[in-house]
Amino acid sequence: MAVTVEKRGTTAFVTIDNPPVNAIGVAERKGLSDAARMLATDPKVERVIISGKGAIFAAGADAREFDSVPQEPHLPDVIAQIEQSPIPWIAAINGAALGGGAEIALGCRYRIAAPDAPIGLPEVTLGVVPGAGGTQRLPRLIGMADALEIIVQGRPIAALEAAASGFIDEIAGNQVEAAEKLDLDIVKARPPLSELPPPEQDSQAIEAARALANKRMRMQDAPLKAVDLIEASATLPFEAAMVKERKAFLSLRKSEQAKALRHVFFAERQAKMPVWLKAVTPVDVRKAVVVGGGTMGAAIAYALNAAGIGVTIVENDEDAAERAKFNVGKLADTALKRGLINGEKAAGIKAGIAIMIGFKTLPNADLAVEAVFEDMDVKKQVFSKLEAGLPESAVLATNTSYLDVNEIASVLTDPSRLVGLHFFAPAHIMKLLEIVRGDKTGDIALSTAFALGKKLRKIPVLAGVCDGFIGNRILARYREATDTLLMDGSTPWDIDEAMVDFGYPMGPFEAQDLSGLDIAYANRKRKKATRDPNRRYIPISDRMVEEGRLGRKTAVGWYRYPGGGGKVLDPLVEDLIREEAYFAKVERREFSHDEIRERILTAMINEAADILEEGIAQSAANIDLVLIHGYGFPRWRGGLMHYADQLGAKTVLARLKAYAEEDPVIWKPSPLIDRLAAEGKNFASVAS
Ligand code: COA
Ligand code: NAD
Repeated sequence: MAVTVEKRGTTAFVTIDNPPVNAIGVAERKGLSDAARMLATDPKVERVIISGKGAIFAAGADAREFDSVPQEPHLPDVIAQIEQSPIPWIAAINGAALGGGAEIALGCRYRIAAPDAPIGLPEVTLGVVPGAGGTQRLPRLIGMADALEIIVQGRPIAALEAAASGFIDEIAGNQVEAAEKLDLDIVKARPPLSELPPPEQDSQAIEAARALANKRMRMQDAPLKAVDLIEASATLPFEAAMVKERKAFLSLRKSEQAKALRHVFFAERQAKMPVWLKAVTPVDVRKAVVVGGGTMGAAIAYALNAAGIGVTIVENDEDAAERAKFNVGKLADTALKRGLINGEKAAGIKAGIAIMIGFKTLPNADLAVEAVFEDMDVKKQVFSKLEAGLPESAVLATNTSYLDVNEIASVLTDPSRLVGLHFFAPAHIMKLLEIVRGDKTGDIALSTAFALGKKLRKIPVLAGVCDGFIGNRILARYREATDTLLMDGSTPWDIDEAMVDFGYPMGPFEAQDLSGLDIAYANRKRKKATRDPNRRYIPISDRMVEEGRLGRKTAVGWYRYPGGGGKVLDPLVEDLIREEAYFAKVERREFSHDEIRERILTAMINEAADILEEGIAQSAANIDLVLIHGYGFPRWRGGLMHYADQLGAKTVLARLKAYAEEDPVIWKPSPLIDRLAAEGKNFASVAS
């Protein structure tokens, strides 16, 4: 039942009923249109109260319909019917009212919402603009500046906040009851929002919104289009502006950016818990132990604490415990300084995260997350102690970046308890959580990991065991490709610019400067003995570290940072590169930005194809999530594999074959790409 209508006395109750989120599809539009028509001529009805069944009012247009031809009745017409009805409609916003849901509410004469109900027009996050009057009714209701803030960033706000601007008329615990009690004269005296005078033009707010969109949503079409439409609300008559809005919505809906953003939206929802784990009951994590309170451990403890989990950090000795305390305190102070938490909360975090030395009297934890040095022996010792000191039901997790999870598990009597929880730095902020499944990892450990991911509001992605899992394994190819380009003729700044122009927030060399060149250096040294001797080795990055160029922390890296400020190109780096090329007898040549991008992305796609083929990733969409949420790949491009599918396997294969003439080892095509190209299939069709 898409929409139900019930009449009691002189009130009609219209309920949107499309679980789980009351998305508005063709059936709901038809249901609402029929209800509006029927009730408009019902002599017994004096008011209509619309709400959503369950915990949500309506999550907006059904985005699954966006790939097909729009079907009648269209939402703007349905809302016009509601708005022009002789019987006033009142929105009882019982939960989230987003996109089309919020637009339906704007078609009503009065809006009463639950205090915490998220309200907003998040369409731009799906690559479109509000398409049912949102860009015209909202500025008329709350003014241009406030409407710009809500629509252009697409960030929903709580009803309480929405009430302050006038978006919501009233806040009530029981919205339907409040709507029933509402004085009808008040409601009837209100004109439909489309009949309100146009908002005052606010050129300053418009320019500020454009600047913000260009900064925060760089290279995306929808936010700028939304600004144009809101600007037009001050100058065009309502009907004319509605035509303009509809045209923009329909054209954006078909765009590559919107398709890519929809792909990511649905991939994120599907990643929450794999279907085969849904029947497994996870361990209810209330208490956790974090071993190691360094960069990662402190931030993991912080994230667990913020999710309401009791945390104890275990450190080695007095000094390390002091450092751990300092690390946690710094995270809380930074959040306080940024206004993310108040003083009381910051003090609560500092006091709430316990720190202990040694493993003798471990608390009765449900979960342990190990975040000690990246050293197999140290990790093995830690897990033996955790197994001895924690209840048998506790799930044990390692935050290793590269080490073999199966080997770590080999020290346990019950290796099914061990799972990889690969957080990304800074662990309390970064959304990605790779959940690494060892050969013996049990379903309970896995389902606990996914449930924890949800609690921490992370994007969990299942990964198999290999060097670097999904993300760092692709990153290694990204770096190999960029280092090769450096040696063969390019510069860090050209490569950075090429990738920023593709949509990355930062180029690979500037990013290395930020995180420090020493970590990757240590990793390369660790792997020196097992390095493939047939693979070309580029020593430039090693030279950088050996010359003390560690990045921002030493004020010199690939760039110079005089006085700790912004980056400045450094000709010495170019000299160093030329010197290495001379030693290696490489004849350098120029690379265009297009060629730089093509080589880097092809190398990454090739590695990702192997990752998919080997079953390390469960789907191409999961690889997309890893790169978007862990490595800055532009979301509006849909992720690496979505992008690869736009190119097509044949094109990728042709590029690999062309490059393989220079170096058949590095550019050897993945068997999966060969197969997909031969069969005319795409990466999205592959699932393990
Ligand atoms: N269209 C189609 N399906 C939608 C949808 C939409 N607008 N919004 C949510 N869904 C689906 C999800 O894909 C998911 O489906 P699944 O169970 O088959 O995986 C299901 O509804 C539940 O969504 P989920 O996001 O997991 O639920 P939640 O309770 O965590 O969050 C919302 C609920 C409403 C806050 C969230 O779904 C949301 O933000 N939706 C999108 C709102 C939006 O952008 N609207 C504008 C559309 S143009
Ligand atoms: P770090 O050096 O900052 O911290 C390690 C901490 O572990 C130190 O505080 C140390 O005192 C403590 N420690 C060492 N041995 C211990 C023991 N036996 N018992 C208790 N505590 C012990 O290291 P980090 O950067 O936080 O990395 C930790 C782990 O996280 C590593 O496995 C690393 O590969 C992984 N990781 C790091 C990052 C990153 O960007 N730094 C990202 C993802 C994963």
